[in-house]
Amino acid sequence: MIDPNQQLYAQRRIVQYYTQLQQLQPAEQTILNLFRDRWARMKMLDIGVGGGRTTAHFAPLAQEYVGIDYAAAMIAACQQRFATASLPLSFAVCDARDMSQFADATFDFILFSFNGLDYVNHRDRLQSLQEIRRVGKPGGYFCFSSHNLQSLEPAFQWHTQLRWNPISTYVNLVMWGLLRLVNQPLTVPKIQAATHAIIKDESHNFRLQTYYIRPQTQIAQLAAHFDHIRIYSWSTGLELTSESDLHHNTESWLYYVCRFKSGGSH
Ligand SMILES: C[S@@+](CC[C@H](N)C(=O)[O-])C[C@H]1O[C@@H](n2cnc3c(N)ncnc32)[C@H](O)[C@@H]1O
Repeated sequence: MIDPNQQLYAQRRIVQYYTQLQQLQPAEQTILNLFRDRWARMKMLDIGVGGGRTTAHFAPLAQEYVGIDYAAAMIAACQQRFATASLPLSFAVCDARDMSQFADATFDFILFSFNGLDYVNHRDRLQSLQEIRRVGKPGGYFCFSSHNLQSLEPAFQWHTQLRWNPISTYVNLVMWGLLRLVNQPLTVPKIQAATHAIIKDESHNFRLQTYYIRPQTQIAQLAAHFDHIRIYSWSTGLELTSESDLHHNTESWLYYVCRFKSGGSH
């Protein structure tokens, strides 16, 4: 059965939106630089490739590049966008929850950028992580971003919407009201008590169900299959190195880089 998020991502206007995106986010640029000496030896899988924003940056560097998405319309858009590229790249319709079209230990580097992992429910998220581990080579790397539950506490409080500029305050309060309305009965105390939550945020007009998680919970969730976990601010590209940095971070999403554990979990 096709889920509502998957249906939304197949809509023409949403596909058009992702197809015109071009720039890497600062954290993605940091990660691209981090592996600069290794790309030429890496077989890369780009999950949730959307309209191919990241393809333009990573495919020319990688030894081989495969982009997948569960929305067939996104893959058709990528095939059109890169039809004339003379690079070792390919695209396929594939869901992260079931990547049986790929053998175990196929990829050296797997990317799931711009929070693509957040559009399935909790059980399916864990299933996706297991599949990612399966198709990743031991010692290879997984990089993804995910929404930060800590950003919801200020987002749910009206007084954090106030600005010196009255028009900004008005717009913020309208968006705050919509956020509270579409996410009833979620409250600030409930967010404070939660380790993760699925909410409708303002992206694509409150129509997507989006998974938010605390950074420390995300680290624990990764620990079964991955080690050497590093976390980066999406907006500055800087690594968050201390417990206190992580605990107090209220950015909307964060980037994670981790290594596939050797042995065991296939
Ligand atoms: C926020 S968009 C990001 C698109 C692109 N990576 C970018 O950064 O511009 C998320 C993408 O992930 C895809 N996606 C979400 N869940 C997926 C899943 N379980 N398997 C494959 N693709 C998925 C969606 O169809 C969508 O194209």
